Amino acid sequence: MSAYNVALVGATGAVGAEFLQLLETRDFPLGQLRLLASSRSAGTTIRFKDQDIVVEELTESSFKDIDIAFFSAGGSRSKQYAAAAIAAGAVVVDNSSAFRMDPSVPLVVPEVNPDALTGHNGIIANPNCSTILLVMVLAPLLKLAPIRRVVVSTYQAASGAGAAAMRELETQTAAILAGNAPEPEIFPHPIAFNLFSHNTAIDETGYNEEELKMVKETRKILSDDSLAVTATCIRVPIPRAHSESVNIEFVGERPSVAAIQSALAAFPGVVVVDDREANVFPMPLYASGRDEVFVGRIREDISCPNAIDLFLSGDQILKGAALNGYQIAECLIERGLLGGKK
Ligand code: A2P
Repeated sequence: MSAYNVALVGATGAVGAEFLQLLETRDFPLGQLRLLASSRSAGTTIRFKDQDIVVEELTESSFKDIDIAFFSAGGSRSKQYAAAAIAAGAVVVDNSSAFRMDPSVPLVVPEVNPDALTGHNGIIANPNCSTILLVMVLAPLLKLAPIRRVVVSTYQAASGAGAAAMRELETQTAAILAGNAPEPEIFPHPIAFNLFSHNTAIDETGYNEEELKMVKETRKILSDDSLAVTATCIRVPIPRAHSESVNIEFVGERPSVAAIQSALAAFPGVVVVDDREANVFPMPLYASGRDEVFVGRIREDISCPNAIDLFLSGDQILKGAALNGYQIAECLIERGLLGGKK
């Protein structure tokens, strides 16, 4: 059986750690594993399958003999080093936003648009975390009826801003409980006992970057430039699972709630949690550490005859990032789309 040499750029980060866990616990045909991070981490070791692997500094020569390079160290590292990885014969799976809207780069959620991988040019983009969770729910509904418009409000966990932001949530929470003032360092505002508009730049339209990513990436993944999408993205004091309130307006008559529940339940990677009697619906606490996207509160919108409302939760680091990237790698292997086969 073929084995594939993997480089993990950002191995010391939150997504890197989860990607390592997936490589360790799942059935990946792994050859060599190279762990890459900044000079700050070079020389430290990470335990992997009973071995201590030394973290190396990311340089242009880091990719010799690598078949697949997973990048999760921020967009500027991807822009600077992806070309070196491709030149060395690797396929890059990039978790940053650097290449997502490049028309020559597939933007892939394997359950939704795996065919987009065919004919890739060496880079596959892993979509924005909130967008992945959203399209996991829109794709099965599109099998029932065409969608005209999506209105989404997010409740985004600290993990989307990395491991340091997760620690900031913990330390601020402890500080406040001890009677001290929170000291924001990573986030622009206190994250503990608070929520605030997503900490990305706002353009002249009044939308922030995260919201515009959701609009553009959803259209690209679903191959529908005419789909109307609007988003409001909010950071909440939750460690690692995002939630979203979604209003979906169909072009014509809306499918029944029962049909929607069945379509969602039948879709791989989606679990329906929709118990009105017990008032049990998706919660980020229970979505944390889980692979699936949880969806519930599925109901007819009383304000619009063609629309429905629903609520979802999913682990931002897993399906929102590392797991989706891992599944892209699996899909590339299954379809024979990795260049450097051994
Ligand atoms: P390091 O730990 O050495 O700073 P997170 O998203 O959790 O914040 O993680 C970011 C990841 O990106 C970390 O692994 C971090 O490594 C890595 N990283 C940050 N800056 C660089 C850089 N200049 N070169 C290589 N890796 C980097």
